[in-house]
Amino acid sequence: MRILVIGRGGREHAIIWALKKSESVSRIYCAPGNAGIAKMAECVPIPESNFEELRQFAIDIGVDLVVVGPEDPLFEGIVDYFEEKRIPVFGPNKRAAIIEGSKVFTKELLAKYKIPTAEYRSFENYDEALDYLHKQKIPIVIKADGLAAGKGVTVAQSMEEAEQALKAMMVDKEFGEAGRKVVIEEFLSGQEMSILAFVDGNVVRPMVAAQDHKPVYDHDEGPNTGGMGTYSPVPHIPQSVYDQAVEQILKPAAEAMVQEDRPFRGVLYAGLMITEDGPKTIEFNCRFGDPETQVVLPRLKTDLADIFVATVNGRLQDMDIQWSDEAAVCVVLASGGYPGPYAKGIPIYGLDEVRESVVFHAGTEFKDGQVVTNGGRLLGVTGIGRTIAEARDKAYADAAKIRYEGRHYRTDIAQKALIAAAGRSDS
Ligand code: AMP
Ligand code: GLY
Repeated sequence: MRILVIGRGGREHAIIWALKKSESVSRIYCAPGNAGIAKMAECVPIPESNFEELRQFAIDIGVDLVVVGPEDPLFEGIVDYFEEKRIPVFGPNKRAAIIEGSKVFTKELLAKYKIPTAEYRSFENYDEALDYLHKQKIPIVIKADGLAAGKGVTVAQSMEEAEQALKAMMVDKEFGEAGRKVVIEEFLSGQEMSILAFVDGNVVRPMVAAQDHKPVYDHDEGPNTGGMGTYSPVPHIPQSVYDQAVEQILKPAAEAMVQEDRPFRGVLYAGLMITEDGPKTIEFNCRFGDPETQVVLPRLKTDLADIFVATVNGRLQDMDIQWSDEAAVCVVLASGGYPGPYAKGIPIYGLDEVRESVVFHAGTEFKDGQVVTNGGRLLGVTGIGRTIAEARDKAYADAAKIRYEGRHYRTDIAQKALIAAAGRSDS
């Protein structure tokens, strides 16, 4: 089987790393890929946004399956575009990708189908939004409706901060069309957890849980990023809570999409807050998480290509998907300055000294035979072990060997799990 993976991040590297293990996969292509992906797949320099060239390339090489990694092309209808020519493609179509593309759509869906989430109101009028805001308690959460490159959510700790966020979106139009509508949402407190699931219509096959670390600095300080590290399993969140999230959130959401005539096919990702009243939905994404994928797929025992093919062919319900009991911890190495402005083209040394971890590349490229920086998040150093502690030690030992100017990574990835484990053994 020939597979074309679309994307250039650590998520796509992890997908390709998992596909490499499949006996049914003969060739893997990636558009456009990165320096790490180039070692295990044939990279073609076609950007994710050039649907026409991507489709022509897929036809030319006689591809058997296309896998779409990032959200942007999904929102823009890349799946519909491939399906027009009957090319098998894994991912939601445009109508279904709206579950990530519009926060207002998703809040209305959750309310209509009584799926647990934060209380909210949505607004198109600034004065009405401001009036409502002034009647709310602090902290409060302000969200732009559309996609804003991960910057469209403000968890405001003061009324001034909330007012500023609202003004930036609705008056100054900092996010353009994405901020035309806003959601003002109740602040939820608790631990966050991500559950991704393979979904085909009503059929939901959840993956093992993961926990992301969004803020750029240790102890969850600083601005939010795409994710500075992840780990799986999340041992301090009980199985019963996981089961509750699957039964009360993921399955009803998939069913709701079918009811709305927007059946979802692909990976549905639930971002959850585990509150005192149980799990509540923070958001849905319409794709694999990044860097969640880097810790979830290493624990997958079933052939990933088989799962993709079964999903595309309407046979996901026949799949028995198995997961290992191992733990995985991914530490993201970022460019100095990220998530703000950062330099590119800086040489990265020490990759060949890595011994115990898998390094998934994100914003890297080859220049004159040297791996150089080419993005904000650069590498996801992933340790795999019998326990979180073992996986974490491996990841940090190897992360320290990788050197480049401005290197930044968090030193407390998975610490919450270790503290919770220590607390348990003390009691
Ligand atoms: P999102 O882009 O929707 O994932 O939001 C980014 C981050 O903002 C989440 O990972 C949470 O940490 C935080 N967040 C979003 N909504 C809420 C909420 N209602 N209560 C508390 N934190 C939230
Ligand atoms: N790690 C968060 C995301 O993939 O959206």
